[in-house]
Amino acid sequence: MKILSVVGARPQFVKLAPIHQAARAAGVEHVIVHTGQHYDPMLSDVFFEDLGIGVPDVHLGVGSGSHGVQTGAMLAALDGVLDEHRPDWVLVYGDTNSTVAATLSAVKMHIPVAHLEAGLRSFNRRMPEEHNRVMTDHAADLLLAPTQVAVDHLASEGLSARTVLVGDVMTDVLFEVRDQLSGAKSALVDELGLTPGDYYVATIHRADNTDDPERLAEVAAGLAALDKAVILLAHPRVVAKAASHGIELTQGSLVAHAPLAYPDLIAAALSSAGIVTDSGGLQKEAFLLGVPCTTVRTETEWVETIELGWNVLANTAGEIATAVTRDRPTNTDATPYGDGHAAERVIAVLARAF
Ligand code: UD1
Repeated sequence: MKILSVVGARPQFVKLAPIHQAARAAGVEHVIVHTGQHYDPMLSDVFFEDLGIGVPDVHLGVGSGSHGVQTGAMLAALDGVLDEHRPDWVLVYGDTNSTVAATLSAVKMHIPVAHLEAGLRSFNRRMPEEHNRVMTDHAADLLLAPTQVAVDHLASEGLSARTVLVGDVMTDVLFEVRDQLSGAKSALVDELGLTPGDYYVATIHRADNTDDPERLAEVAAGLAALDKAVILLAHPRVVAKAASHGIELTQGSLVAHAPLAYPDLIAAALSSAGIVTDSGGLQKEAFLLGVPCTTVRTETEWVETIELGWNVLANTAGEIATAVTRDRPTNTDATPYGDGHAAERVIAVLARAF
């Protein structure tokens, strides 16, 4: 069996790592195609190096652009790659423009497509990620769902026959990295002279929070007014938007810092007082690490984190300030995101359906 994974953005490299490991362990041929959607070394190369993925077999070098330009460039480049490799499965990850481009390309070439992290829904039609995941789920041949909630969403859209619950591969990689850290001190804490337990880790990158100057100013001011230091691990998008809107990302409690490599992020999160984020993955990572999370959005796909009390939605500066000082949750037993062996299950399901 030959699997061809298409990835392009930072969270996809994290999900790719356990899949690559499981494919190798099972003796499955695995071709990795990097679209080039993320190209800064700290958003791309360090993940391949730190997570033991090696280097992509093919790099399309597409880079940034409007949704149409970026997605179209990927589509044009993928045809030749898929034709050359003719895999048994194209595996696509999550909800980015790289996901939808690879799905469309494979479907048109009659190559079976499996969607990892299928069935997530925010029900917010303004989010590019929501378009990408809905289109991908309805086009793909096999839907690999991370949670029961995702399975239920797919059922309500008539997609049950193609759905398999496999668990969440982010749990696999997170537990492995956490165990490798085995309590090692965070490099960020050392570098910035922080006191463990006395700072928040923040990430903000979604279009809804960055693109409108008033909105970004409100979020930055809200973070700057918090009761502890807030280390903003600033995605290039928020840096670029802040510069063009004339907004300071280091003000009050808020300190802008370059993005971290994955193990450093996990170490920094583990000794923080909480996470403040609009990322999807980090909400779940906080939950799995037992760190309270405040999500700067009006909805989330990861509803289990909210129901179990580890995550709170907070969209205004006042709501963020209230949320970060709430009592620590006590529920630590629930495991809605699988057992840390999802990637092995994915490879087994692909082999069975092949
Ligand atoms: C993308 C995904 C989002 C995911 C996020 C993870 C889409 C629609 N969005 O958002 O779902 O949560 O990745 O980080 O696919 N840039 C750089 N260097 C890079 C990459 C981007 O400077 O290596 C800057 C460019 O100014 C670019 C902007 O960031 O225009 C946005 O990048 P893009 O890949 O379009 O979307 P993300 O915001 O990263």
